[in-house]
Amino acid sequence: MTAELIGYADQISVRSGQTIAFKISSRGSEPYRATLVRIVRGDPNPQGPPPEFEDLSSVFQGSFVSREQHAWTGSYALIEGAADLPPLDALSLEALVWPTLPADGEQCVISRRDPASGAGFSLMVTPDGMALEVDGERVAVGKPLRARIWYRVWASVDPKSGVLRVGQQPLKRAFAADDEGEAAASAVSFLFDAQRPILIGAEQAGDRPARRCFNGKIEAPRITGVGAWDFSRRIDSQEIEDIGPNGLHGRLVNLPTRAMKGAAWSGAERDWKRAPHHYAAIHFHDDDLHDCGWADDFSFTIPEGFKSGVYGMMLTRGPHRDIIPFFVAAELGKPTAKVCYIAATFTYQVYTNFARQIYDAAFKQRVADWQASAYYPAEHPDYGLSTYNHHRDGSGVAYSSRLRPLLTWRPNCLAYNDPLGSGLRHLPADSHLTGWLDRVGVDFDVITDHDLDREGLALLASYKVVLTGTHPEYHTVNTLDALQTYTETGGRLMYLGGNGFYWRVALSEKVPGAIEVRRTEGGIRTWAAEPGEYYHAFDGIYGGLWRRSDRPPNLLCGIGFSSQGTFVGNAYRRTPPSRDNVHAWVFEGVKDDLFGGYGFSGGGAAGFELDRLDHRLGSPLNAVVLASSEGHDRRNFVVVHEERLGFDTTIPGETLERLIRADMTYIEKPKGGAVFSTGSITYCGSLPANSFDNDVSRLTFNVLNRLGELGLEWPL
Ligand SMILES: [Fe+2]
Repeated sequence: MTAELIGYADQISVRSGQTIAFKISSRGSEPYRATLVRIVRGDPNPQGPPPEFEDLSSVFQGSFVSREQHAWTGSYALIEGAADLPPLDALSLEALVWPTLPADGEQCVISRRDPASGAGFSLMVTPDGMALEVDGERVAVGKPLRARIWYRVWASVDPKSGVLRVGQQPLKRAFAADDEGEAAASAVSFLFDAQRPILIGAEQAGDRPARRCFNGKIEAPRITGVGAWDFSRRIDSQEIEDIGPNGLHGRLVNLPTRAMKGAAWSGAERDWKRAPHHYAAIHFHDDDLHDCGWADDFSFTIPEGFKSGVYGMMLTRGPHRDIIPFFVAAELGKPTAKVCYIAATFTYQVYTNFARQIYDAAFKQRVADWQASAYYPAEHPDYGLSTYNHHRDGSGVAYSSRLRPLLTWRPNCLAYNDPLGSGLRHLPADSHLTGWLDRVGVDFDVITDHDLDREGLALLASYKVVLTGTHPEYHTVNTLDALQTYTETGGRLMYLGGNGFYWRVALSEKVPGAIEVRRTEGGIRTWAAEPGEYYHAFDGIYGGLWRRSDRPPNLLCGIGFSSQGTFVGNAYRRTPPSRDNVHAWVFEGVKDDLFGGYGFSGGGAAGFELDRLDHRLGSPLNAVVLASSEGHDRRNFVVVHEERLGFDTTIPGETLERLIRADMTYIEKPKGGAVFSTGSITYCGSLPANSFDNDVSRLTFNVLNRLGELGLEWPL
């Protein structure tokens, strides 16, 4: 369903002098307004400090004509050059297919067809087995294909005899399965070819780019005398290569998954770079989406000297409102503050449009009561899925694009109907921190994961202290290297979240706006990559948990993911070392030994996902645990899979109960560097409690004030 008023920007992070363009879909007839705002706080919970969007209409505002723009899901390969081929004398084609939803309607394997007249051909997987459709004629094998089995499929047209043929044969026959055969039909007058582009995995349509999108893998499609496409080539790109004499190379639309096991895969090789011919398949999905391709409606050039920060373009039309967030990043080598906040844009992008099945009446009532952001991804499948979802065919979503409406990447967006708090994740949850910085009077610059990946250590080097938000989970080698080197060379890091630095992701200049994740081996995850599909297509690197690639989070921040629970938080208790002369400053003004049992995320500072110290995983020997969380209910929390062996045995040898905790940790590093880690996703939700005057707020202020050399007095 098209949203009433929604849009996206061509960039997520910009700097002074750069222009950001906005692409808007507005269903009404009256114009909409666009106003620049600074996102100060994005939590709509009426029990907390109210949301605040600083009006910057003096910098940018406008009124724009409404128009509806559509998003069309479904991936396929498009061979535009085929439109120049003369009509064929006869047709003979074949491919290998691995259908995933063979009973689910008509799904095109190869087509060259005029959507207006119907002239031309489509070879399809149908509930009736393989079918060939030409012009108004059709022939089908009549035997359904089995899901997730490789078949050789073929079709031919002999215009002299008027005979159409279509066939299917499993590469491995199964006892008692009747799924092999060929069918033929005769026809007198039909146009079996059209001077149109060739599509692999779909058919051109009149009212949209494509229809009859395929679900499953296709390998080695070929049309005699026309082309033979070898998907084992250019795997890291969105191009497909024709190895025939016509050189009819094509491009992929809507990000089908590459580096997928093909019919030849035997388990002998697991890296597509070492055996590309074993990875000659592309997995297409009818719910894939890459770049919506919407036209620009307006743009905005960031003025010179504009303050780095978290901004938004607020759209309003009647009762409808949307805010498109973006970041104005600090200039390289020109800090305007001692403190730098890193917006976890990799994690935002990986999660965005997570269609959770929790949007019940009570949830929607709260959204209405709180005037929260009201777009539910499950109700807008046309804007694509999250890498936390499965595709409709059961396979995991490995890519996420930012070139589409990002429904959950919004201030005031609720993720959970949290009975103890606001239920925020990601950008709005991180506004608990950025809003707190505003309130306690700490000036800060902002950079994003995307900036850090591109520019590295130099972007951090000028700051006294660098802060993460609630959940910096996804990283590239560039972002991890930058942070590690920063902390080894005098920089100070405050990791104010949980389950950070956990999964590896990949970006690619060949695939604009997209990010890739492979959910390999084990770990807390929403889907499991198929064995043999553990290497990213984008960069050819082994994906999955960083701890599987010798980079456990403990190496950077002293702690690593240990337990996941429901969205509920508990308190931390101070440890004896927190009272020694070296660390007592952290707790100056902190009233209670057991602190943080309150907050707007799950009702407590230590909750949802918890990290603990473990020297075996690389926690530095001088890491000091200042406080540990306690009181977690075993019924609400599990120990992460990668630490478990059997029913109640664990790799560290400790009890399951003992591994359910967050360790607040402080580490002194070389050259005056330091790392402070909280190890909980819900930590920052406690900052705004009691109008920001509470022990968590005070403690965080103490650490920031010292590590940032801010020289501030506690303001509350
Ligand atoms: Fe996560």
